[in-house]
Amino acid sequence: MAPKVTEFDRARAALAKKLDLSQRGDADLLDRFDRWGGDLIEGLQATYELTDVIGPLIDIMVDQHGKRSETLRQRDRERVLNPDWFQRPDTIGYVCYTDLFDKDLKGLANRVDYLKKLRVSYLHLLPILEPRPGESDGGYAVMNYRALRKDLGTMAELAAVAEQLHTSGISLTLDLVLNHVAMEHEWAEKAKQGDQKYRDYFYAYPDREIPDQFEQSLPEVFPDFAPGNFTWNPEMEAWVWTTFNSYQWDVNWANPAVFCEFADIIANLANHGVDCIRLDAIAFIWKRMGTICQGEPEVHAITQALRAFSKILTPSMIYKAEAIVGPAQVGAYLGEGKHAGKVSDMAYHNSLMVQIWSAIAAKDTKLLELVMARFGAMPASTAWGVYLRCHDDIGWAIDDSDAHRVGINGHDHRMFLADYYTGKFYGSEARGVDFQIEKHSGERRTSGTAAALTGIQGALERKDKAAVDLAIRRYICAYAMVFGFGGIPLLYMGDEIALFNDDDFVKDKTKRDDNRWIHRPAMPWQVAEDAAQGKKPGSPATRVRKAMENLIQARLNLPSLHAAVATKVRAGQGHGVAIFERIHPSGNVIQLYNLTETRRWVSRDEILALPDWVTDRLSGQSFALGDGLELEPYQVLWLS
Ligand code: GLC
Ligand code: GLC
Repeated sequence: MAPKVTEFDRARAALAKKLDLSQRGDADLLDRFDRWGGDLIEGLQATYELTDVIGPLIDIMVDQHGKRSETLRQRDRERVLNPDWFQRPDTIGYVCYTDLFDKDLKGLANRVDYLKKLRVSYLHLLPILEPRPGESDGGYAVMNYRALRKDLGTMAELAAVAEQLHTSGISLTLDLVLNHVAMEHEWAEKAKQGDQKYRDYFYAYPDREIPDQFEQSLPEVFPDFAPGNFTWNPEMEAWVWTTFNSYQWDVNWANPAVFCEFADIIANLANHGVDCIRLDAIAFIWKRMGTICQGEPEVHAITQALRAFSKILTPSMIYKAEAIVGPAQVGAYLGEGKHAGKVSDMAYHNSLMVQIWSAIAAKDTKLLELVMARFGAMPASTAWGVYLRCHDDIGWAIDDSDAHRVGINGHDHRMFLADYYTGKFYGSEARGVDFQIEKHSGERRTSGTAAALTGIQGALERKDKAAVDLAIRRYICAYAMVFGFGGIPLLYMGDEIALFNDDDFVKDKTKRDDNRWIHRPAMPWQVAEDAAQGKKPGSPATRVRKAMENLIQARLNLPSLHAAVATKVRAGQGHGVAIFERIHPSGNVIQLYNLTETRRWVSRDEILALPDWVTDRLSGQSFALGDGLELEPYQVLWLS
């Protein structure tokens, strides 16, 4: 009996026919199909009729493969041999808007040395693809995925900057907004003109019947400025699905043509030197009646197929999931069950971020420990994106049952955090502002820079020197957790010099309704350069910069901070002290963080994984543990 010809065999044969296997690049491509083709087909079959999609996809592969430069093909080979390149402790992330960093791509090119000096090796440029004119949700309403925002540069310049970054040891991440496009995008324009092919790229309903049914279980992302999830469009004569703003039209991923369009867009970005794709709002891309339409199983099948496509075609590229979801859901984006290790390579650790802020406000670490203990093991090939804040607001994602387990009320605690970080709570020095107040519960999210939330800004405005000192310690303690946790620490632009809120955003009418702009200040280069050179040593900017450099330096020399090594989080017996433990043959590390304003005791029993004589990798000091240690307010120790 002849062996059964599988879908895999058929697809492989179709691909092989279009390649010249005497060429190294083509042979490599087919080898990679052998390695990842199965994942691709499995992901596609879970969602689409395979025959609708595999043919066009192979054509895209062959076409984009032909366009890949020899330099990038070499990068591919190197990374296939070093698949953990982004997991290593020397991966230091930096996140910025190109224009706010230094005007445009030329400005950025001139500042690469600044990034190098800071030891940055992973740069995420927030949206730079061409947005709609006017309001664009900070660029997350993309009109053209094959061009850049005009004032920032051209695609050719992007490729040149990517190459410059690569030579400087820096990888480039860009956003891929794949849940929605701007209503001015070509697909939407054609849909408005009545072209059925393109109408099928969107969700459009002639009346409220179906939208109303969906609304029963759908939450609202922007209840203030974009209530509801559907918007009437007169040209379409339909209610169009718009999860985010009314000008951001959700695309229909159930349509295989949409999959192919995005695959080609991703390949094109990869061929311009992009190393990592941030899958924006990935949770939202599949809709199912009766659910909140986030994190449906198809989301992961699609991600698996897209990633396998990239692994075959441009394997130096990785995927990062932006899934701002709870501890129980986030694991799926790094892969659970049959998707383990086959979906995104990275995901944001939103829970850790929220828990750091929560512990600082509460001066207690019980909840942090409980929540962190709920995280299962992650695939060893993946990494967390660890951050203290980003360009978005902070949503106080405290789970009711978690809160209940430590004896508090979830709603009350969320309200407390929102009050605390907007300075409404007695004794709080924070200067955040409320974002998106929910009508029924009164719950709200918070905007503000890290320096504003930790109280550096408030203390400085009050000219209270002791309070400034304490706030700086708090700030460094919080950021030390980001650098110490493992995974990729993501430093938001300007946090290396503790930038304050930018109240001027209200002067720009495309920004004033969205106060997330308060925490997106422009880079003050004089201050940044002075701090980098250690000038004005007493200023918060220089002090913070120095402390950051110290954290980064210590991190670089700790092999056990490799992302594949799991971090165990414990709360110290003294409460208020978080303990991160990393057990690895390269050397155990125990990190202690006093998240309170008072002295705390950590006993020897809590540091069992270390011998008696230890070194604090942050200060360089060695000492005997004795019975234990007393930690100063906000003191951090990385012991090995
Ligand atoms: C992501 C972005 C956010 C944007 C949203 C809609 O969550 O981080 O800034 O508003 O997607 O694209
Ligand atoms: C919601 C979304 C997240 C987005 C944010 C924007 O939290 O889940 O994707 O970043 O809104 O504020």
